[in-house]
Amino acid sequence: MDALSRPGIRVALVGVGNCASSFVQGLQHYRDGANDLAGLMHLEIGGYRPSDVRVVAAWDVDKRKVGRDVAEAVFAKPNCTAVFAPDLDPTGATVRMGPVLDGVAEHMGDYPDESRTFLVADEAEPSRAEVVEALRAANVDVMMNYLPVGSQKASEFYAECALEAGVAFVNNIPVFIASDPVWAERFRAAGVPIVGDDIKAQLGATIVHRVLTDLFKKRGVKLERTYQLNTGGNTDFLNMSNRTRLASKKVSKTEAVQAVAERRLEDENIHVGPSDYVAWQNDNKVAFIRMEGQLFGGVPMNLEMRLSVEDSPNSAGVAIDMVRCAALARDRGLSGPILAPSAFFCKHPPEQMTDDAAHREVEAFIAGEAG
Ligand SMILES: NC(=O)c1ccc[n+]([C@@H]2O[C@H](COP(=O)([O-])OP(=O)(O)OC[C@H]3O[C@@H](n4cnc5c(N)ncnc54)[C@H](O)[C@@H]3O)[C@@H](O)[C@H]2O)c1
Repeated sequence: MDALSRPGIRVALVGVGNCASSFVQGLQHYRDGANDLAGLMHLEIGGYRPSDVRVVAAWDVDKRKVGRDVAEAVFAKPNCTAVFAPDLDPTGATVRMGPVLDGVAEHMGDYPDESRTFLVADEAEPSRAEVVEALRAANVDVMMNYLPVGSQKASEFYAECALEAGVAFVNNIPVFIASDPVWAERFRAAGVPIVGDDIKAQLGATIVHRVLTDLFKKRGVKLERTYQLNTGGNTDFLNMSNRTRLASKKVSKTEAVQAVAERRLEDENIHVGPSDYVAWQNDNKVAFIRMEGQLFGGVPMNLEMRLSVEDSPNSAGVAIDMVRCAALARDRGLSGPILAPSAFFCKHPPEQMTDDAAHREVEAFIAGEAG
């Protein structure tokens, strides 16, 4: 049986960038018995192991990726993430040209080093009907949206295709679809599940900042001011250096922290966001968090923290569970936003919970005890 016709969870990737690279490498790394299981939250979800997930379709717009097998494209420039599974078996899925829409920021073209930016392929862009047809022909179960921040129109295009083809949608990016009531209702009405929005990395700045904020609350410490500054050197950070693309990312990251604070901080007392592009950092992301508060007796305290992580494996450690929860929801005939996985795995879910509560809820969802 060839790679494309084996059973399991059949995935389409939209955007074959660094996060997709780590995700695809992880599928090979965690093949049964190949390596130990360090880095996984769950070996099995609803009977699915990472080895049951396979990529059967993919879209990108970069000329170094379009036309190549996904297993090669994930290592093409400008991808720069850690290579932990260098010898990938061919997937049999060739990266197709997608519609560019607002996926590529104009300012990327001004960056002097082409090996670090997107280079749009000179290929015909597909219609919606052609993408839907390709999803149907490949029997795709779950579509993973890995487009650049600010890709509102492109995300909506692919979400429309998923709806029409009846494919579950995992929205890894801060374009609001699962958390937008109109889109949520459309997925519900079409009988299609969606998990989103904006993936919350495995041990990234957001979850650490949230857990510390929750800790202040639980320990009775009044949080007065906080910032979270992030630097990185991948295309995600270069793309986000155009502030006009950042609006929804700022909302998503800031609300993720506000949602677990004892009381909302005034806007001027909270600053959370991507801060700068530092080319030599490549896919390494460094977060600087400062929190200022008042202890017993109103006595001031502050906390400074620095977190250094490889950005893309950090998202793939969550994506590997999101994709299996989306498939499980589809198997169970659920539709619309799937609340517990969205809350545990995403920064901007339809319903925010503390991470402790979301963890309990997601375990109950996996066990079949909740939706
Ligand atoms: N790393 C994390 O922990 C994390 C967390 C939250 C959200 N995200 C988000 O995930 C997304 C993907 O991140 P990444 O690091 O892989 O980005 P990336 O820049 O490496 O990859 C984006 C890919 O999309 C392609 N693309 C651009 N326009 C397209 C179009 N119209 N159709 C198809 N493909 C198109 C690009 O060519 C590129 O290959 C970003 O929006 C990022 O903010 C990542």
